[in-house]
Amino acid sequence: MNRHRIIIDADPGVDDAAAILMALASPEIDVLGLSVVAGNVPLKDALTNACKIVGVSGRADVAVHAGAPGPLVREQVFGKYARIGSFSDELVARGGITPAEEHAVRFIVRSAREAAGTGEPITICAIGPMTNIALALIQHPDVARGIRQIVSMGGAFTALGHRTPWAEFNIYADPHAAEIVYRSGAPIVVMPLDMTFQALFSAEHFQSLRDRGGAGGDALYNLFSTFDRGDVARFGRPGGPIHDATTIAWLIRPELFTSRRATVGTQVTGLTMGYTYADFYQKMDRMPNATVVTDVDETGFINLLIERISLYGSAASGPKTPGGLNL
Ligand code: RIB
Ligand code: CA
Repeated sequence: MNRHRIIIDADPGVDDAAAILMALASPEIDVLGLSVVAGNVPLKDALTNACKIVGVSGRADVAVHAGAPGPLVREQVFGKYARIGSFSDELVARGGITPAEEHAVRFIVRSAREAAGTGEPITICAIGPMTNIALALIQHPDVARGIRQIVSMGGAFTALGHRTPWAEFNIYADPHAAEIVYRSGAPIVVMPLDMTFQALFSAEHFQSLRDRGGAGGDALYNLFSTFDRGDVARFGRPGGPIHDATTIAWLIRPELFTSRRATVGTQVTGLTMGYTYADFYQKMDRMPNATVVTDVDETGFINLLIERISLYGSAASGPKTPGGLNL
């Protein structure tokens, strides 16, 4: 099996937790490490949360690197769940790992350069504001040669924004970083709200995680029960999205998704800062720079997430092996 060698750049964040646990349980994926960025919560809390989630997974072989404490240019904003702060021991069991000494940007640069050298380019799953990734690309543009693709959960094209009427949070929190990444020349896959809003997880789904998912399922049940992401007024039905996990599902089962090429960018000034556009019809004088994922098979994605988190339940009965859980 050719495994995806990935860095997860995250701002945990409840849905980040689901993405991280899903990746760490999946044999198709080799998580080289996590790079952490301020976003949903301040950097110190995001770092604590990332370390606790990796601790819950049992994958002490996976390093967590602290990165940018805030955006490149704009004033800092946090997620609407910023009151989460750091995950309490009641929500996610104590026992997290210790952060690595190496800064996240240094980790990204080193990993991408090594990948270019061995001819095994890496995937970066960008599930927070893209500050770390932009800094790596600005300081060392050559690292793009070691990047197979940047799978970015972010943006909103046909959907309205949710952090503001015009903007999705990850882009809104650092639009300058997003524009740098979009224009970097690295292969970009964009997973926007248009698509993530199509897959809504219900209380029954979270109960399944709790019943079958061992320590990982417990943590996600606690987190998603505490921070209800449903919005019947907006979605017209119960349940809420798990945005970030779509980036992992894309790597494991791309056939669950529909995508098309477009020129993608974001506004970096003015009232509608963070507004993202996708030129699907080449109305601009720019070549398409991204693959935009427009649709997801809701049932297939939900079942895949539950199936992978359930591996923490089955693994509880046996030794874990680096690079994945007992299968
Ligand atoms: O808009 C959703 C994104 O913003 C997710 O990555 C969530 O964790 C927050 O970072
Ligand atoms: Ca996130």
